[in-house]
Amino acid sequence: MSYQNPKVAEVADVLKRRFAELENKADILKAVELKALYAEIPTLPPEQRASFGKEINSLKQELQELVAKHQEQAEALPPIDVTAPFDVNTPIDKRPKLLPTEHGSKHPLTTEIERITDIFYRMGFEVVESREIDDEYHMFTALNFPAGHPARDDYDTFMTVQKDKNDHPLVAPAHTSTMQHRVLKAYKERLEKGEPIAIVTPDRVFRNEDLDATHEHTFHQIEGIYVDKGVHAGMLIATLKTYLNEYFGENLEVKLQPFYFPFTEPSFELAVERPAILRKDDSEEQKWLELLGCGMIHPNVLKMAGIDPEVYTGFAWGQGIERMVMMKNGIEDIRHFQSGKLEFLRQFV
Ligand code: DAH
Repeated sequence: MSYQNPKVAEVADVLKRRFAELENKADILKAVELKALYAEIPTLPPEQRASFGKEINSLKQELQELVAKHQEQAEALPPIDVTAPFDVNTPIDKRPKLLPTEHGSKHPLTTEIERITDIFYRMGFEVVESREIDDEYHMFTALNFPAGHPARDDYDTFMTVQKDKNDHPLVAPAHTSTMQHRVLKAYKERLEKGEPIAIVTPDRVFRNEDLDATHEHTFHQIEGIYVDKGVHAGMLIATLKTYLNEYFGENLEVKLQPFYFPFTEPSFELAVERPAILRKDDSEEQKWLELLGCGMIHPNVLKMAGIDPEVYTGFAWGQGIERMVMMKNGIEDIRHFQSGKLEFLRQFV
């Protein structure tokens, strides 16, 4: 389309070039240049107004058509598989170059999880990853939290709008204990053949917390599960003490203090003698470090997974990862971990 009026022709040129670059094409209709042309009409001598106005209207119409055409084309594009790796959808010359790996490094939490799982692996445990969306059954019911029990509220659990088959909202797991039932069921057969269940499950967990330097909505835990004939609390203590000695490279005392979890009976909190690297002075408050929750797996939890608690017993524990990494490295704010800040991450290269 060509325009008689040089001003309209110039604006048409500018706007068509801009249109090609705009991400949101409809924004072209809000261009200030177009508005300025309309604003000019009343300033013209009356006999010129009609033809000038007509030209601007044509320009506006042309732009509207461009927008409509673009929309039609966008809608007509073949659907892409958004879950496919980029090479399926992207022509060869448009693919981004991969960054050289030597510029990257492991996230400090990954390094920590690898260290911990490696120790348990050498102690005969297998590693099973947890999951990042789960249901009410695995979060609570299978862990012996009765329906409506106030202990459910302690977990500040995020729930989705989407419901499961029992009409309960799906949940973002608030602890890695959600895997206990699955692991017990999956390994039951091996247990009956005489092989103990010995599993650790690390992963992300989520809680609806008020955020501050020590509270984050997303953090990490590692869960441990051990079941066999004749398992007792002494074995729980020995296992965790062996792990902690290996982890800190020191022979440390541990002690159990009574606690409450619906899925263990008895339940404990394990405190470890504060390792030298984390001790500031010799005061009594500095002596013990409360590290994790643990206990003997509740008979109801075993029963729900089809394991006879008269024949088998077991222990379990759950440890948070972030606090450990923070103490070891003098990190003052838990929110650094999810921040993606390079200044933070580069300290751990
Ligand atoms: N799931 C508990 C929490 O997040 C931690 C825990 C305690 C895990 C005792 C266990 C356990 O397996 O036996 O607070």
